[in-house]
Amino acid sequence: FEEGAFTGKHIVITAGPTQEAIDPVRYISNHSSGKMGYALAQAAANQGARVTLISGPTNLPCPERVERIQVKSAEQMLEASLQQIGEMDIFIASAAVADYRPSEIAEHKIKKVDGEEQMIIKLVKNPDIVATIAQHPERPFTVGFAAETQEVAQYAQAKLARKKLDMIVANDVSNTNIGFNSDNNAATIFWAQGSHDLDFMSKSNMANEILACIKAQLS
Ligand code: C5P
Repeated sequence: FEEGAFTGKHIVITAGPTQEAIDPVRYISNHSSGKMGYALAQAAANQGARVTLISGPTNLPCPERVERIQVKSAEQMLEASLQQIGEMDIFIASAAVADYRPSEIAEHKIKKVDGEEQMIIKLVKNPDIVATIAQHPERPFTVGFAAETQEVAQYAQAKLARKKLDMIVANDVSNTNIGFNSDNNAATIFWAQGSHDLDFMSKSNMANEILACIKAQLS
């Protein structure tokens, strides 16, 4: 086991999509692959950190020397994250959390009804996991992500302030070569006093760049 930049640090990372149940066989979700969060978990473990990966449903194998907690819904992801309060040094929220969930989960499979051409599902807002952690009295160093399609810098900096984050990694998801299912990414990291551009690179290289930026901010 090698000494690394994060030896002695506990890093908690959320990754992947969340699944919000509608009934016992259906859910609302999104196309997040989890690749960025899993790359971060692998890179952090390689640099000596103790890593807990709180993951929504993905097809990815658990990285080596990483403890994975598998969850489905945003509420489960929040609960698993809150359990780490006081025990983590750094929290990185890369999960694509569903903004809304069905207001109730039907106990039985919802049947289609003859003659009813529309169906309305009522949704309620999910808790904001990264904002909850960032605003906790025992908050760790907290990093969020922002996927934007326009005015990337402006929206990312607003999100940094509003959620009380220490850092935010913003990418332009209008560029289809990067982001969501891709192995590559391009982004800009913002913190209160500065920013750093990460040009097109693999998610594994980007993970190392993000960790280097965190390290620099911590010291
Ligand atoms: O507000 P928005 O969803 O654009 O913010 C994205 C950031 O917030 C990501 O870091 C994401 O993991 C986190 N987030 C969260 N809980 C939510 C929504 C977003 O932790 N319910």
